[in-house]
Amino acid sequence: MNRIPQHVAVIMDGNGRWAKEKGQERLFGHAMGVESVREALTAASEIKVKYLTLYAFSTENWNRPKEEVDGLMDLLVQTISNEIESLNKNEVRLMSIGDANALPDRCRAELKSAIEKTKENKGTTLILALNYSSKSEIKTAIKQIAQRYKDGEISLDEITDDLVSSHLYTAGIPDPELMIRTSGEIRISNFLLWQLAYSELHFTTKFWPDFKKEDFYQAIYEYQHRERRFGKVSEQLQS
Ligand code: IPE
Ligand code: IPE
Ligand code: MG
Repeated sequence: MNRIPQHVAVIMDGNGRWAKEKGQERLFGHAMGVESVREALTAASEIKVKYLTLYAFSTENWNRPKEEVDGLMDLLVQTISNEIESLNKNEVRLMSIGDANALPDRCRAELKSAIEKTKENKGTTLILALNYSSKSEIKTAIKQIAQRYKDGEISLDEITDDLVSSHLYTAGIPDPELMIRTSGEIRISNFLLWQLAYSELHFTTKFWPDFKKEDFYQAIYEYQHRERRFGKVSEQLQS
């Protein structure tokens, strides 16, 4: 318990393949994935992980068949409205990262209302990455910083790591110490490229709907047994 990450990020992957294996539609996999979201959130809350970021929809996911995109948006609206009571009961604060403006109106409204209703909660912060692209996030930050430089507001020397971080969606949130991806894919898929610079990565072949509380704890346990050297050598860390 004395080495709990403050921030865990998850690429929830494999819903479609999970459903297909069961002879079901992909959307059934997404619906069943919601239970795994509950499991991960409960697990994170229990051990007092301060921030849990879940990759729910990437900017690239708009390229999926319309039926699936519409289904995912409906599921999002439904889930947020169903869960709001339980989020409040468990002191969970909801936030989102990504371009929420491009989400359908009904999603944006539901999301905004849930963020508002949970903003005073003091427990785990659940961050949903929705219509998220890390490259876009970084590109926007570069534009904003360039503008500030041009306006004479900042000098080149003032462009530090912290300044860059403060221009990202995740401003004020510590970088994830641990990133988990399910489904056996070993890639980042445009997720938190800056923020994951020194994160420990955990890949599991389980599909997201099969990912349960124990799996979350397993990932934390493995994380706790990694040596994070940050460029140093092992002996320096012992002393
Ligand atoms: C992850 O599962 C959920 C989203 C991307 C919305 P997938 O839908 O990517 O499932 P697979 O990877 O095709 O099995
Ligand atoms: C990444 O999963 C996005 C989310 C989990 C929301 P994808 O299934 O879209 O990623 P790729 O396309 O396999 O890399
Ligand atoms: Mg996938």
